[in-house]
Amino acid sequence: MVEFKTFSNGFPYIEVTNSVSSAKIALQGAHIFEYKKDGKNELLWLSSLAQFEENKPIRGGIPICWPWFGPHSEPSLPQHGFARISLFSFISCDEKDDITSVVTLKLTDSPKSKILWDFSFELLVTISISKELYVSIKTTNTDIKEFKITEALHTYLNVENILDAEVFGVKKSTYFDQLSKTMKVQKNDLHIDQEIDRIYINPNNKLTLKEKNRTIFLQNSHSNSLVIWNPWREKVKSIKDMQDHEYKNMLCIESANVLDDSKIVQPDRSITLSLKLSSISY
Ligand code: BG6
Repeated sequence: MVEFKTFSNGFPYIEVTNSVSSAKIALQGAHIFEYKKDGKNELLWLSSLAQFEENKPIRGGIPICWPWFGPHSEPSLPQHGFARISLFSFISCDEKDDITSVVTLKLTDSPKSKILWDFSFELLVTISISKELYVSIKTTNTDIKEFKITEALHTYLNVENILDAEVFGVKKSTYFDQLSKTMKVQKNDLHIDQEIDRIYINPNNKLTLKEKNRTIFLQNSHSNSLVIWNPWREKVKSIKDMQDHEYKNMLCIESANVLDDSKIVQPDRSITLSLKLSSISY
């Protein structure tokens, strides 16, 4: 079942429910901001101060960073691209069976997008809601000239206590440390006890986040870079849509195509980045 809803300020989202799961997806950004499996809000973190307003990114869920990741060399252009602050069109919600709903949303170029990025494109987002969550973003070049993109599924995972969490799948990977602006090598599995902002190069495409009572599995496709981010206790104070203590309960593990993994898309060609998320609790 799919229902079209709005917040009191008119900000639109859709609510999808089937017999095993449910999700809320903002039309702005094709942004899934809640996903519940078996009635529990399990995998995705959403800030208690998240804002649902036109032209503002939502802090939590899975923002889509596209067609560039991070800051643009032209500082007046929006951080992480414009997809996360653009209104997508609803295409369909198909009930595959009583346990799987597949939502499709689309963004195409407009006079507004061409001011920010002068290309014709189609960005198709498919979200499959079931006992697992699957998100894919397909970029098609509808222009007559090639373009280059960087992108990420900026997934905010909900963790009970960041100090008890461990990430498997990045051991021995090289990464660009965005804090020191140097390349480093990850020696061991990752335990986070300070600010982290890293771009891993060629990590395993299957990652695991282990907590005391739960394991989350991430599987990336067509992605050879991965961002891991937590602002920790000092930087969180400068993030106005996040409470000071909330860094303890989130970790961003972002399936990406960034740095040397950026993608050139030729006219009439498409590329797809996707992520499958699942979990088991003990
Ligand atoms: C991460 C970046 O992906 O996103 C960080 O690596 C950035 O550098 C973070 O701070 C949050 O970005 P924003 O624009 O959503 O505040």
